[in-house]
Amino acid sequence: MNLTKKQVRDFEDEGYLFIPGAFTNEEVAVLNAEVPGIFAQERPEVWREKGTQSVRTAFAAHTYNEAFRLLARHPRLIEPAMQLLGGPVYVHQFKINGKAAFDGDVWQWHQDYGTWARDDLMPEPRAMNVALFLDDVTEFNGALMLIPKSHRRGVLEAGHDLATTSYPLWTLDTAEIARLVDEGGLVAPKGAAGSMLIFHCNLVHASPGNISPFSRTIVYVSACHVDNHIRRFERDEWIAHRDFTPVECLADDCLADLAPPGRPAA
Ligand code: SIN
Ligand code: MN
Repeated sequence: MNLTKKQVRDFEDEGYLFIPGAFTNEEVAVLNAEVPGIFAQERPEVWREKGTQSVRTAFAAHTYNEAFRLLARHPRLIEPAMQLLGGPVYVHQFKINGKAAFDGDVWQWHQDYGTWARDDLMPEPRAMNVALFLDDVTEFNGALMLIPKSHRRGVLEAGHDLATTSYPLWTLDTAEIARLVDEGGLVAPKGAAGSMLIFHCNLVHASPGNISPFSRTIVYVSACHVDNHIRRFERDEWIAHRDFTPVECLADDCLADLAPPGRPAA
């Protein structure tokens, strides 16, 4: 999938691109059918929210689940990242975030590259997130909030928050967030399942807790230019991957070969 010149310009200017309807209901159904089975597994890759059994994030499902293995090589996710990064990419991180109905906890204000630089020694911010909504994202269920243009500010000072949620994160202070929002405003892209959100690895973002009865599952592929692979290997392999092989995209209809729920495979 090729982005238009305007989409490339918008991404460079604003730090994100929102593409509703990128995946069909059938493709989303194939992926969603796999999520309960992944979330039910007791394995280190599957992190629960503090104090509940609800899943906060399930890492690296593309390494052990066939539908997500295909998704991690899907041209609609990977080709835009290759285009924006100007070359081959590898998957630095892959996660399915649950943000469960009633239990989904906050993600504090942060930049992903802040963590990748500090923890993994990724040399440059030549990486991005490509997110696919597996549920409708609404004003009720903890939509991501992004600060447009904040990706141009480089790596901002951050503190390592090990206490607020079950997941350690390098987070920004509130005075800095207020300044950035004053300059760039705030957006919260909402849309139906199947929508895609691409954002720069230095874009400042967060999401509130989900106290609605609607879960908000989003899958994230973090793509990094192969030349820019991480240099430090201290975090678990399934959080910060060490396989820097360039992704080879599959056919656009690769998910259609898997059986939709209730129907035999083609
Ligand atoms: C993240 O920033 O990595 C996750 C945020 C979210 O899924 O709400
Ligand atoms: Mn993030």
